[in-house]
Amino acid sequence: MTPELTISVADLLVSGTELLSAGGVQSPAVDAELLLAHVLELSRGELQVRVVTGALVSAAHESSARAFFARRAAREPLQHITGIAPFRNLELRVGPGVFVPRPETETVVQFAIDALSASATPEPIGVDLGTGSGAIALSMATEVPRARIFAVELSSDAMPYTSENFRRYGSDNATLINADLGDAFPELDGTVDVVISNPPYIPAAAIPRDIEVRLHDPALALYGGEDGMDVVRRVSVTAQRLLHQGGTLVLEHGEEQAAAIAALLTADGWNAVAHHKDLLGRDRATTALL
Ligand SMILES: C[S@@+](CC[C@H](N)C(=O)[O-])C[C@H]1O[C@@H](n2cnc3c(N)ncnc32)[C@H](O)[C@@H]1O
Repeated sequence: MTPELTISVADLLVSGTELLSAGGVQSPAVDAELLLAHVLELSRGELQVRVVTGALVSAAHESSARAFFARRAAREPLQHITGIAPFRNLELRVGPGVFVPRPETETVVQFAIDALSASATPEPIGVDLGTGSGAIALSMATEVPRARIFAVELSSDAMPYTSENFRRYGSDNATLINADLGDAFPELDGTVDVVISNPPYIPAAAIPRDIEVRLHDPALALYGGEDGMDVVRRVSVTAQRLLHQGGTLVLEHGEEQAAAIAALLTADGWNAVAHHKDLLGRDRATTALL
């Protein structure tokens, strides 16, 4: 039986965009497109073709799309609704309990990938401390296939997503453990080429403005104690244990933390401490050598 066709793709997008806009969503038109494309199992490009050609949507798809628009208008993160977060070349499973990987981290990972690629060792070792969805670790594992990648995540709420992503992308050369980063991988002490971390770094009192972050990202992924640096301090100590002499540390951090991170790393004895700007010109990453 032919499904009942009720509304055009274009009209449904207008309606979704209006709802998302009324809910205060930052990019309502883009999000409406991504949600409708997800419902119709199309790419955004394919959706645009349907807009231009005046295609219609079935009643069932319209109802699913409107339910998704309502959830997004209530500020549920887009990636929790679709269950997917794109990151570099990966499509990661995400949902409540796991940190949704951010576009700025895509550029931070490049420092680790470059350091692994430049290593003269046949199988360089990379470690990701606080891996969340596995975004950083699995980018290293898939983009430097000769590397061996190890990742640790403490949150048991995050682990189902992390494990699924590692099964999909990391089966050849990536190892995941559920532990505290301070105790992780003693068997690798002094042998690791690159340690990377995007740790929780928000000061406890600095509650994020975005509703999506405040209500839906796990607290363990966001807050780093009074000055935001509690986990950073532990990452510095753990990375010194894991790396071989001359190994590279890559850290993502808040834009106002660059000076504090430099002071901390210098006091801990790191060399060649350098800050790196993101696409908006903000100091959001620091590298250092052991
Ligand atoms: C800001 S999120 C980053 C997640 C992921 N690396 C990314 O960039 O998308 C920080 C992650 O560190 C984890 N974490 C926090 N404290 C930890 C600890 N002591 N040991 C291991 N993981 C920890 C959190 O659960 C969270 O997944």
